[in-house]
Amino acid sequence: MRKYIKGAIFAILMFIVFAAGCATAVDSKKKTSINEIPEEPADRLITVGFSQLGAESDWRSANTDSMLGTFTTDAGYSLIYKNGQQKQANQITAIRMFIQQEVDYIVLAPSTEDGWDSVLGEARDAGIPVIVVDRKVNAADKNLYSCWVGSDFELEGKKVAAWIKAYTESKGMAPEDIHIVNIQGSIGSTAQIGRSRGLANASRENGWDLMAEVSGDFTETKGREVMGALLKRFDNINIVYCENDNEAIGAIDAIEAAGLRVGNNIKRGEIMVVSFDGVNEKALQYAREGKISCIAECNPHHGPRVEALIKSLESGITPDKYNYVDEKIYSSVPEVKSITVDGTEYMIEQP
Ligand code: AHR
Repeated sequence: MRKYIKGAIFAILMFIVFAAGCATAVDSKKKTSINEIPEEPADRLITVGFSQLGAESDWRSANTDSMLGTFTTDAGYSLIYKNGQQKQANQITAIRMFIQQEVDYIVLAPSTEDGWDSVLGEARDAGIPVIVVDRKVNAADKNLYSCWVGSDFELEGKKVAAWIKAYTESKGMAPEDIHIVNIQGSIGSTAQIGRSRGLANASRENGWDLMAEVSGDFTETKGREVMGALLKRFDNINIVYCENDNEAIGAIDAIEAAGLRVGNNIKRGEIMVVSFDGVNEKALQYAREGKISCIAECNPHHGPRVEALIKSLESGITPDKYNYVDEKIYSSVPEVKSITVDGTEYMIEQP
């Protein structure tokens, strides 16, 4: 008898589950039933997977904020943001995850230029357009990504070098008396490659003494550490070329901790610091005070620029492959009013 009751209960339960299953199936088919007019597709969110390389500098934080502030739900996007923590392997993992999630676009802010071919090939095979932002990728096949937007880092380096030349000439300094150290950015990144090249070429052309190039990884801590070591190695440094403002802030700390003075009065023994970005408020204040003599702007506000590229792709228009951002140069040192690089004149702006 008990066995009979158990069997009856089981049968009833099975019927309920089956009936519920049918109801769900009917409901889920409702939208696509051929007997009904299909519903207008609701405004679809565009899914963007953004692989940021890390959070090494104020520039990077401003760049991340620009992206997060642009790709909001209100603006019609679903953003998946991944911080690579300064490791290319993490960025590659993030891109693979975006591919699995079938995002509409992948936006990549790459740590270094090399090593992206395989994963970009996987994105292409999955039919997902990749937009590269800020630094570039060195891919054998340029069709592995749709387009790029960012700064002309070599031009930035050339601008600072032109400023150094104009300033030192205005003071009547002989080129061989200009002793420079370069605290480089993260080795292999476009920002480092371009800025280092700008200085190295200018040093060769002008006969400056470029004594050392050491990476400070774009961070304040490494800038301080590297500058401390350089001051122990050389006693005649008169210009420190820092490849970003965070390094410059660290280098200034180290110079002052060594009992030396920072400023543009090289002839009186001050050590001149020049830099890049113009984002960090402390660095801009240092530039107003003359502790940083010159800053080439590197603009981090790429969110709206990437959005414009996506909108263009969405409407079937192929954007330009390479999209360079116009940038300024800042200094409060009165001697130099403008510089000319590759035939273009740039007025010096107040920081
Ligand atoms: O790639 C842009 C550079 O990266 C910025 O100059 C630097 O501050 C950042 O970390």
